Amino acid sequence: MSPQSKRKVLVVGATGFLGSKILRQLQRDDTVTVRAMSRRGAPAGATGNVQWVRGDLMDPDSLDAALEGVEVVVSSANGYMKETIAADFEGNRNLIDAAARAGVKRFVLVSIVACDAAPEVPHFHAKKVAEDRIKAAGLPFVFVRAPAFLDQSVDYVAEGVKAGRFYAVGDKTTRWSYVLTEDLASDVARAATYPGDDIANQTIDIGWRDGPKSQQEMAELISQITGRPLSVWTVPWLVFQALVRPVKLFSELGYDLIRMFLFFRKGQFVSDTALQERFFGPVPSAREAITRWADRNK
Ligand SMILES: NC(=O)c1ccc[n+]([C@@H]2O[C@H](COP(=O)([O-])OP(=O)(O)OC[C@H]3O[C@@H](n4cnc5c(N)ncnc54)[C@H](OP(=O)(O)O)[C@@H]3O)[C@@H](O)[C@H]2O)c1
Repeated sequence: MSPQSKRKVLVVGATGFLGSKILRQLQRDDTVTVRAMSRRGAPAGATGNVQWVRGDLMDPDSLDAALEGVEVVVSSANGYMKETIAADFEGNRNLIDAAARAGVKRFVLVSIVACDAAPEVPHFHAKKVAEDRIKAAGLPFVFVRAPAFLDQSVDYVAEGVKAGRFYAVGDKTTRWSYVLTEDLASDVARAATYPGDDIANQTIDIGWRDGPKSQQEMAELISQITGRPLSVWTVPWLVFQALVRPVKLFSELGYDLIRMFLFFRKGQFVSDTALQERFFGPVPSAREAITRWADRNK
Protein backbone atom coordinates (compact mmCIF):
# COMPACT_ATOMS: atom_id res chain seq x y z
CA MET A 1 0.00 0.00 0.00
CA SER A 2 1.48 3.36 -1.01
CA PRO A 3 1.75 6.07 1.69
CA GLN A 4 -0.67 8.22 -0.37
CA SER A 5 -3.44 5.60 -0.23
CA LYS A 6 -3.16 5.05 3.54
CA ARG A 7 -5.56 6.75 5.93
CA LYS A 8 -3.91 9.35 8.16
CA VAL A 9 -4.75 8.96 11.85
CA LEU A 10 -4.04 11.70 14.40
CA VAL A 11 -3.59 10.57 18.03
CA VAL A 12 -4.32 13.34 20.54
CA GLY A 13 -3.00 12.58 24.01
CA ALA A 14 -0.31 10.37 22.46
CA THR A 15 2.19 10.88 25.29
CA GLY A 16 -0.24 9.71 27.99
CA PHE A 17 -0.37 6.40 29.85
CA LEU A 18 -3.19 5.07 27.67
CA GLY A 19 -2.44 7.30 24.68
CA SER A 20 1.09 5.94 24.24
CA LYS A 21 -0.29 2.39 24.17
CA ILE A 22 -2.86 3.40 21.53
CA LEU A 23 -0.02 4.93 19.53
CA ARG A 24 2.05 1.73 19.72
CA GLN A 25 -0.91 -0.31 18.47
CA LEU A 26 -1.45 2.01 15.52
CA GLN A 27 2.25 2.03 14.64
CA ARG A 28 2.01 -1.71 13.98
CA ASP A 29 -0.81 -1.24 11.44
CA ASP A 30 0.52 -0.72 7.95
CA THR A 31 -2.85 0.36 6.55
CA VAL A 32 -2.53 3.79 8.21
CA THR A 33 -0.01 6.59 8.59
CA VAL A 34 0.18 7.93 12.11
CA ARG A 35 0.55 11.48 13.37
CA ALA A 36 0.84 12.13 17.11
CA MET A 37 0.13 15.36 18.95
CA SER A 38 1.71 16.76 22.10
CA ARG A 39 2.20 20.27 23.45
CA ARG A 40 5.92 19.58 23.49
CA GLY A 41 6.32 17.92 20.08
CA ALA A 42 8.18 14.59 19.84
CA PRO A 43 9.10 13.12 23.23
CA ALA A 44 12.73 12.20 23.89
CA GLY A 45 13.56 8.83 22.36
CA ALA A 46 10.61 8.87 19.93
CA THR A 47 11.28 6.39 17.15
CA GLY A 48 9.50 4.73 14.29
CA ASN A 49 6.95 5.64 11.72
CA VAL A 50 5.17 8.46 13.57
CA GLN A 51 5.03 12.09 12.58
CA TRP A 52 4.98 14.19 15.77
CA VAL A 53 3.26 17.59 15.75
CA ARG A 54 2.99 20.27 18.38
CA GLY A 55 -0.57 21.05 19.37
CA ASP A 56 -2.46 22.40 22.34
CA LEU A 57 -6.15 21.74 22.95
CA MET A 58 -6.40 25.31 24.24
CA ASP A 59 -4.99 26.77 20.99
CA PRO A 60 -7.38 26.29 18.03
CA ASP A 61 -4.83 27.41 15.41
CA SER A 62 -2.44 24.66 16.48
CA LEU A 63 -5.28 22.15 16.10
CA ASP A 64 -6.07 23.28 12.55
CA ALA A 65 -2.42 22.66 11.65
CA ALA A 66 -2.32 19.27 13.41
CA LEU A 67 -5.49 18.13 11.60
CA GLU A 68 -4.40 18.98 8.07
CA GLY A 69 -4.94 15.94 5.84
CA VAL A 70 -6.22 13.82 8.74
CA GLU A 71 -9.09 11.36 8.15
CA VAL A 72 -9.36 9.80 11.61
CA VAL A 73 -8.87 11.51 14.98
CA VAL A 74 -8.36 9.46 18.14
CA SER A 75 -8.41 11.37 21.40
CA SER A 76 -7.54 10.05 24.85
CA ALA A 77 -6.34 13.45 26.09
CA ASN A 78 -7.51 14.77 29.43
CA GLY A 79 -6.34 17.41 31.86
CA TYR A 80 -8.39 16.88 35.01
CA MET A 81 -6.02 14.37 36.65
CA LYS A 82 -2.71 16.20 36.33
CA GLU A 83 -3.49 19.79 35.30
CA THR A 84 -6.86 21.39 34.69
CA ILE A 85 -10.29 20.18 33.67
CA ALA A 86 -10.42 23.07 31.17
CA ALA A 87 -8.74 20.70 28.69
CA ASP A 88 -11.65 18.27 29.11
CA PHE A 89 -14.32 20.91 28.47
CA GLU A 90 -12.91 23.81 26.43
CA GLY A 91 -10.05 21.76 24.98
CA ASN A 92 -12.33 19.01 23.69
CA ARG A 93 -14.68 21.64 22.28
CA ASN A 94 -11.77 23.22 20.37
CA LEU A 95 -10.67 19.84 19.04
CA ILE A 96 -14.17 18.88 17.90
CA ASP A 97 -14.72 22.22 16.15
CA ALA A 98 -11.32 21.92 14.43
CA ALA A 99 -12.11 18.34 13.37
CA ALA A 100 -15.38 19.54 11.84
CA ARG A 101 -13.53 22.32 9.96
CA ALA A 102 -11.01 19.77 8.68
CA GLY A 103 -13.76 17.42 7.44
CA VAL A 104 -12.53 14.48 9.52
CA LYS A 105 -14.19 11.18 8.52
CA ARG A 106 -14.12 9.46 11.94
CA PHE A 107 -13.71 10.83 15.47
CA VAL A 108 -12.78 8.16 18.02
CA LEU A 109 -13.26 9.52 21.53
CA VAL A 110 -12.05 7.67 24.60
CA SER A 111 -15.09 8.26 26.77
CA ILE A 112 -16.32 6.82 30.05
CA VAL A 113 -18.94 4.15 30.79
CA ALA A 114 -22.25 5.68 31.93
CA CYS A 115 -20.93 9.25 31.58
CA ASP A 116 -24.45 10.29 30.60
CA ALA A 117 -25.78 9.10 33.98
CA ALA A 118 -23.36 11.13 36.12
CA PRO A 119 -23.74 14.90 35.54
CA GLU A 120 -22.52 15.45 39.13
CA VAL A 121 -19.05 13.99 38.34
CA PRO A 122 -17.20 16.79 36.50
CA HIS A 123 -14.87 14.66 34.35
CA PHE A 124 -17.67 12.22 33.44
CA HIS A 125 -19.87 15.16 32.49
CA ALA A 126 -17.05 16.57 30.31
CA LYS A 127 -17.14 13.34 28.26
CA LYS A 128 -20.90 13.55 27.85
CA VAL A 129 -20.60 17.20 26.73
CA ALA A 130 -17.89 16.19 24.22
CA GLU A 131 -20.01 13.30 22.90
CA ASP A 132 -22.96 15.67 22.41
CA ARG A 133 -20.83 18.23 20.59
CA ILE A 134 -19.38 15.60 18.24
CA LYS A 135 -22.91 14.47 17.39
CA ALA A 136 -24.12 18.06 16.91
CA ALA A 137 -21.15 18.77 14.59
CA GLY A 138 -22.28 15.87 12.37
CA LEU A 139 -18.87 14.14 12.67
CA PRO A 140 -19.02 10.37 12.18
CA PHE A 141 -17.94 9.02 15.55
CA VAL A 142 -17.01 6.02 17.64
CA PHE A 143 -17.30 6.56 21.38
CA VAL A 144 -15.20 3.96 23.18
CA ARG A 145 -16.50 4.11 26.72
CA ALA A 146 -13.96 2.83 29.23
CA PRO A 147 -14.66 1.56 32.75
CA ALA A 148 -12.18 1.80 35.69
CA PHE A 149 -8.58 1.10 34.76
CA LEU A 150 -7.11 -1.93 36.55
CA ASP A 151 -3.64 -0.47 35.96
CA GLN A 152 -2.71 3.22 36.23
CA SER A 153 0.56 5.10 35.70
CA VAL A 154 1.05 4.71 39.45
CA ASP A 155 -0.33 1.20 39.95
CA TYR A 156 -2.08 1.44 43.32
CA VAL A 157 -3.48 -2.08 43.08
CA ALA A 158 0.00 -3.56 42.46
CA GLU A 159 1.46 -1.54 45.33
CA GLY A 160 -1.28 -2.71 47.70
CA VAL A 161 -0.78 -6.33 46.65
CA LYS A 162 2.93 -6.10 47.50
CA ALA A 163 1.87 -5.01 51.01
CA GLY A 164 -0.71 -7.86 51.24
CA ARG A 165 -3.67 -5.46 50.91
CA PHE A 166 -6.45 -4.59 48.53
CA TYR A 167 -7.62 -1.01 49.11
CA ALA A 168 -11.38 -0.83 48.60
CA VAL A 169 -13.68 2.12 48.07
CA GLY A 170 -16.96 2.17 50.03
CA ASP A 171 -17.85 -1.50 50.48
CA LYS A 172 -16.99 -5.03 49.39
CA THR A 173 -20.18 -5.84 47.51
CA THR A 174 -21.04 -3.13 44.96
CA ARG A 175 -19.92 -4.18 41.50
CA TRP A 176 -18.41 -2.07 38.75
CA SER A 177 -16.53 -2.72 35.54
CA TYR A 178 -12.78 -2.70 34.89
CA VAL A 179 -10.36 -2.92 31.98
CA LEU A 180 -6.66 -3.56 31.53
CA THR A 181 -5.32 -0.52 29.62
CA GLU A 182 -3.45 -2.59 27.01
CA ASP A 183 -6.78 -4.20 26.03
CA LEU A 184 -8.52 -0.83 25.91
CA ALA A 185 -5.71 0.61 23.77
CA SER A 186 -6.05 -2.22 21.31
CA ASP A 187 -9.84 -1.70 21.05
CA VAL A 188 -9.40 2.06 20.55
CA ALA A 189 -6.85 1.41 17.79
CA ARG A 190 -9.27 -1.06 16.16
CA ALA A 191 -12.01 1.58 16.30
CA ALA A 192 -9.68 3.91 14.39
CA THR A 193 -8.76 1.39 11.70
CA TYR A 194 -11.98 -0.64 11.46
CA PRO A 195 -12.60 -0.92 7.73
CA GLY A 196 -16.42 -0.87 7.51
CA ASP A 197 -18.81 2.01 7.97
CA ASP A 198 -21.05 -0.07 10.24
CA ILE A 199 -18.93 1.16 13.18
CA ALA A 200 -19.94 4.76 12.42
CA ASN A 201 -21.89 6.45 15.20
CA GLN A 202 -21.53 3.56 17.66
CA THR A 203 -21.12 3.98 21.41
CA ILE A 204 -19.14 0.96 22.58
CA ASP A 205 -18.71 0.02 26.23
CA ILE A 206 -15.51 -1.82 27.17
CA GLY A 207 -15.33 -4.34 29.98
CA TRP A 208 -14.86 -8.03 30.85
CA ARG A 209 -17.08 -10.77 29.44
CA ASP A 210 -17.92 -12.10 32.91
CA GLY A 211 -19.27 -8.72 33.93
CA PRO A 212 -18.53 -6.22 36.69
CA LYS A 213 -16.75 -7.25 39.87
CA SER A 214 -17.05 -6.28 43.51
CA GLN A 215 -13.85 -5.35 45.26
CA GLN A 216 -14.06 -8.54 47.35
CA GLU A 217 -14.25 -10.51 44.10
CA MET A 218 -11.31 -8.55 42.69
CA ALA A 219 -9.24 -9.19 45.81
CA GLU A 220 -10.03 -12.93 45.69
CA LEU A 221 -9.15 -13.23 42.00
CA ILE A 222 -5.91 -11.28 42.42
CA SER A 223 -5.03 -13.35 45.47
CA GLN A 224 -5.64 -16.66 43.61
CA ILE A 225 -3.65 -15.52 40.56
CA THR A 226 -0.70 -14.02 42.43
CA GLY A 227 -0.68 -16.62 45.21
CA ARG A 228 -0.58 -13.81 47.80
CA PRO A 229 -3.10 -13.66 50.64
CA LEU A 230 -4.82 -10.25 50.61
CA SER A 231 -6.81 -8.44 53.25
CA VAL A 232 -9.38 -5.94 51.98
CA TRP A 233 -9.01 -2.49 53.58
CA THR A 234 -12.19 -0.50 53.01
CA VAL A 235 -12.80 3.24 53.32
CA PRO A 236 -16.55 3.36 54.07
CA TRP A 237 -19.00 5.41 51.98
CA LEU A 238 -19.72 7.58 55.03
CA VAL A 239 -16.19 8.97 54.87
CA PHE A 240 -16.64 9.99 51.22
CA GLN A 241 -20.03 11.53 52.00
CA ALA A 242 -18.56 13.52 54.89
CA LEU A 243 -15.63 14.73 52.80
CA VAL A 244 -17.40 15.77 49.60
CA ARG A 245 -18.29 19.34 50.68
CA PRO A 246 -15.12 20.34 52.56
CA VAL A 247 -12.86 18.89 49.85
CA LYS A 248 -14.69 20.99 47.23
CA LEU A 249 -13.28 24.11 48.92
CA PHE A 250 -9.65 23.26 48.27
CA SER A 251 -9.32 20.48 45.68
CA GLU A 252 -11.09 20.36 42.31
CA LEU A 253 -9.58 16.91 41.63
CA GLY A 254 -10.37 15.55 45.10
CA TYR A 255 -14.00 16.67 44.76
CA ASP A 256 -14.24 15.13 41.28
CA LEU A 257 -12.90 11.76 42.45
CA ILE A 258 -15.10 11.62 45.55
CA ARG A 259 -18.14 12.40 43.39
CA MET A 260 -17.03 9.59 41.08
CA PHE A 261 -16.73 7.06 43.93
CA LEU A 262 -20.17 8.05 45.22
CA PHE A 263 -21.51 7.47 41.69
CA PHE A 264 -19.93 3.98 41.68
CA ARG A 265 -22.08 3.22 44.71
CA LYS A 266 -25.23 3.47 42.55
CA GLY A 267 -24.18 0.28 40.72
CA GLN A 268 -24.53 1.93 37.28
CA PHE A 269 -20.82 1.97 36.37
CA VAL A 270 -21.29 -1.26 34.45
CA SER A 271 -20.30 -2.07 30.86
CA ASP A 272 -22.48 -3.87 28.36
CA THR A 273 -19.87 -5.69 26.26
CA ALA A 274 -22.11 -6.81 23.35
CA LEU A 275 -20.81 -4.18 20.90
CA GLN A 276 -17.23 -4.67 22.10
CA GLU A 277 -17.46 -8.30 21.03
CA ARG A 278 -19.18 -7.46 17.73
CA PHE A 279 -16.60 -4.90 16.60
CA PHE A 280 -13.37 -5.89 18.37
CA GLY A 281 -13.66 -9.68 18.79
CA PRO A 282 -13.46 -11.90 21.86
CA VAL A 283 -13.79 -9.99 25.12
CA PRO A 284 -11.32 -10.98 27.86
CA SER A 285 -12.53 -12.36 31.17
CA ALA A 286 -11.45 -10.85 34.48
CA ARG A 287 -9.17 -13.83 35.10
CA GLU A 288 -7.43 -13.50 31.72
CA ALA A 289 -6.84 -9.77 32.13
CA ILE A 290 -5.69 -10.01 35.75
CA THR A 291 -3.34 -12.87 34.86
CA ARG A 292 -1.61 -10.71 32.22
CA TRP A 293 -1.49 -7.77 34.64
CA ALA A 294 -0.04 -10.00 37.40
CA ASP A 295 2.64 -11.39 35.04
CA ARG A 296 3.86 -7.85 34.44
CA ASN A 297 3.96 -7.05 38.15
CA LYS A 298 5.90 -10.14 39.29
N1 LIG B 1 -8.15 6.26 34.73
C1 LIG B 1 -9.30 5.64 34.53
O1 LIG B 1 -9.71 4.76 35.32
C2 LIG B 1 -10.14 6.00 33.32
C3 LIG B 1 -11.38 5.38 33.15
C4 LIG B 1 -12.13 5.66 32.02
C5 LIG B 1 -11.65 6.53 31.05
N2 LIG B 1 -10.45 7.14 31.25
C6 LIG B 1 -9.99 8.07 30.18
O2 LIG B 1 -8.78 7.53 29.61
C7 LIG B 1 -7.95 8.60 29.21
C8 LIG B 1 -6.67 8.46 30.00
O3 LIG B 1 -5.63 8.79 29.21
P1 LIG B 1 -4.14 8.69 29.71
O4 LIG B 1 -4.05 7.74 30.86
O5 LIG B 1 -3.33 8.40 28.52
O6 LIG B 1 -3.95 10.19 30.29
P2 LIG B 1 -2.65 10.87 30.84
O7 LIG B 1 -1.57 9.88 31.07
O8 LIG B 1 -3.09 11.76 31.97
O9 LIG B 1 -2.17 11.80 29.63
C9 LIG B 1 -2.82 12.99 29.34
C10 LIG B 1 -2.59 13.30 27.85
O10 LIG B 1 -3.41 14.42 27.53
C11 LIG B 1 -2.61 15.35 26.83
N3 LIG B 1 -3.05 16.72 27.14
C12 LIG B 1 -3.42 17.22 28.34
N4 LIG B 1 -3.72 18.54 28.21
C13 LIG B 1 -3.51 18.85 26.88
C14 LIG B 1 -3.63 20.04 26.13
N5 LIG B 1 -4.01 21.20 26.67
N6 LIG B 1 -3.34 19.98 24.81
C15 LIG B 1 -2.93 18.81 24.23
N7 LIG B 1 -2.80 17.66 24.90
C16 LIG B 1 -3.09 17.68 26.21
C17 LIG B 1 -1.17 15.16 27.32
O11 LIG B 1 -0.30 15.55 26.28
P3 LIG B 1 1.03 16.46 26.44
O12 LIG B 1 1.25 16.67 27.92
O13 LIG B 1 2.12 15.64 25.77
O14 LIG B 1 0.73 17.70 25.69
C18 LIG B 1 -1.13 13.65 27.53
O15 LIG B 1 -0.77 12.98 26.36
C19 LIG B 1 -8.66 9.89 29.54
O16 LIG B 1 -9.37 10.37 28.43
C20 LIG B 1 -9.60 9.46 30.66
O17 LIG B 1 -10.71 10.32 30.80
C21 LIG B 1 -9.67 6.89 32.35
